[in-house]
This record gives sequence, structure tokens and C-alpha cells, in this order.
Amino acid sequence: MRTQLARDLGLEFPIFAFSHCRDVVAAVSRAGGMGVLGALYFTPEELEIELKWIEEHVDGKPYGVDLVMPAKVQLPEGVKAEDLEGQLEAMISQEHRDWVEKVLAEHDVAPLPEGESGHHLLGWTDATARPQIDVAFQHSPALLVNALGPPPKDIVDAAHERGIKVAALASNVRHAQKHVANGVDIIVAQGTEAGGHTGEISSMVLWPQVIDAIKPVPVPVLAAGGIATGGQIAGALALGAQGVWTGSIWLTVAESDMTPLVLEKLMEADSSQTVRSRALSGKPARQLRTEWTDAWDRPDCPGYLPMPLQFMLVADVMSRVARSNNRELTGMPVGQVVGMMNRVRPVRDVMQTLVEEYIEAVERLDALNA
Ligand SMILES: Cc1cc2nc3c(=O)[nH]c(=O)nc-3n(C[C@H](O)[C@H](O)[C@H](O)COP(=O)(O)O)c2cc1C
Repeated sequence: MRTQLARDLGLEFPIFAFSHCRDVVAAVSRAGGMGVLGALYFTPEELEIELKWIEEHVDGKPYGVDLVMPAKVQLPEGVKAEDLEGQLEAMISQEHRDWVEKVLAEHDVAPLPEGESGHHLLGWTDATARPQIDVAFQHSPALLVNALGPPPKDIVDAAHERGIKVAALASNVRHAQKHVANGVDIIVAQGTEAGGHTGEISSMVLWPQVIDAIKPVPVPVLAAGGIATGGQIAGALALGAQGVWTGSIWLTVAESDMTPLVLEKLMEADSSQTVRSRALSGKPARQLRTEWTDAWDRPDCPGYLPMPLQFMLVADVMSRVARSNNRELTGMPVGQVVGMMNRVRPVRDVMQTLVEEYIEAVERLDALNA
């Protein structure tokens, strides 16, 4: 598995693991892959604490930070994130708020206790992601990743000045080419089976297209979406990927911070029980199908709001559902590999199995060729 990219980044295995949980990130890096922290849900102050902790727990091994900077959500210049949140909240219609309350009332979900409302805007606007980048630059991640759209050129340049490589997710060839034009070092080609925001093209069709399209540059490609076994890693490397980028499988490791109910639902679900829904953020994101995602298809639903308003509308709903432990409404972004996530094991064991399965797959092919 010693691809050129693995060598360049000082990795034992070119296995990248996206997670919002610092324990998972650090454990993957320590086990020879690269843990990448999803920074979206953290304020700059919280991110500072998380990155400091990770650096203290990776034994000097490389780790990454993932931000969400959708190019299309540009906000008025000079507007501070604090003021922005109030202005955006005012754009959410009463009809939407009333409908959400109606669905929650149907499931007896109680309001949050006084003062427990979370922060709603998150880092998915340029104005709110930049302070997170400033924090990341005060630390020493080996990799900065952007989830939605091409990362702004000035940020790519600033990362390069600090010796940090930049990766970006792409769900079609056009995205990948745009990233390359902006100076991105690594393309993560993510098929529709992936958990979280995802496009429409399946991994098996997307990976070779992206690899071929940007081969002349050349920029390494990581294969993402639907990877849960070492055999799949062998398949991705056989197609020309320089490594794999995974997310879902780390939700059910022993180090993960999932609640018992979410963990139970993930273990129970099969691969047909996810849906690409706009219910979470306004953009299609694959997640467990629940009565909450179904409600958004009902005739009485006033429709989705654009990003970032949709998440601002539903952020407290997520907290309320979690508090009430409501089984029907409880969901989680996860990919189709949820059907292969049936055991809780420590990160180190999962990594070891991936490597063993990879070797078995390569040996199977060698035997065919002998
Ligand atoms: C719970 C969850 C949250 C995610 N959130 C983000 C995110 O904030 N930023 C991002 O770049 N990708 C996010 N993703 C996508 C992952 O980075 C990754 O591309 C994807 O999980 C790969 O496909 P897989 O789920 O089949 O492994 C998320 C995935 C999951 C499962």
C-alpha cells in the first residue's frame, strides 16, 4: 500500500479517515493512516482545544483538518459572523418554524431547556470558516481539506506557504478540474454511496473518470464513498487511486462518541436504509432514512431552505431529538456501507483488518495471474 502519496505524507497506509471525533482522528493517525478532523461543528475556540488535544495524542504522526467552505455561500463583506447569524435567522419563515414544531409535536419531542440552544450558523460560510482556518494555521496539520466546492485560492496559497497540502472533495469530473485549477494537491473523488454531502455518480463509475481526467496534471486521487473492506481498497488502488478516504466506518469504532441509540440504529441498518436528503443542510446529504427525513416529502411540508438556512432551522431539532431519545426521528449522516458496520471494534483492529483484507485481495489476483 506504499503509494507515492503515502510516502510524501509520511503514512504507513494511504487510508484517510474523516471524523468529527478527536479520539478517532488521533487513533487512526497513530495506527498508520491519516485521521482528519471535521471542523464544521466547532467554534474557533473549540477547534483550538481539539487541535491542541490531537497534537498531544498523535505521537508526532500526521493528521488533517476538514472545513466546509461552499463557494456559493458568499456573505456580504464586512459583516461579522455574530451579526450575520441574526440576519440569517430573520430570513427563516414562520411557516417553516411552525411546520417543524408540528412534526416534533407529533412525536412528543419536548423543547430544549432554557439557555440550551446551540450555535446554528456553523463554519459553512466563507465568513465563519475563515476564523477556523486561522486556528488551523496556528497548529501543524499536514492536510487541509475542503468539503463543498473549490477552496478559495488565497487559502490554498496560504496553506502551501506553511507546508500544508490541500485536498478537496469532488463528486464529478468538473469539480475535480476546478479544484486542480485552484492549486489543490489531492482530489478526493467521492461516489454517491458516501455518507454526508454527496453527488449522484457511483464510486465505481466516478473514480476512474476523475483519475483519467486529471492524470496529465498529475494530481493524486483518493477514492471515497462506500469503502469498508481492504478488498475495496485493493480495487481503488487497482483503478489508479493513490489511497482511500473513508468516513462512515469510523462512526461505530470503540473510540467514537456516538450516543447508544445512534450506535444501535447504525448497527441495525442495512444498505438500503440511507437516503440522500436535503433535510439536514439544504444540500443533498446521505443519512439514515427516518421519519424526520420522510416528513420533508409530505404534502404539508413547506419545502427545504437553501444552505445555510436549512441547518439553522433544524439545528435545535437535532439536539431536541437526541435529548428525547426518540427512535423514529433519530438519524445520522452515513453511507451505504452502514449495512457492513455490524461490530464495535477499536480503530487499531479496524485498520489491521483493512490491511489484511487488502493483502488477501492482492494475493487472489496474483494467484489468478500465476
Ligand atoms: C457523519 C458524517 C459526516 C460527514 N461530514 C463531512 C464534513 O463535514 N466534511 C466533509 O468533507 N465530509 C464529510 N463527510 C463525508 C466524508 O468526508 C467522506 O467523504 C465519506 O464519509 C466517504 O464515504 P463513506 O461514508 O462511504 O466512507 C461526512 C461523512 C459522515 C459519515
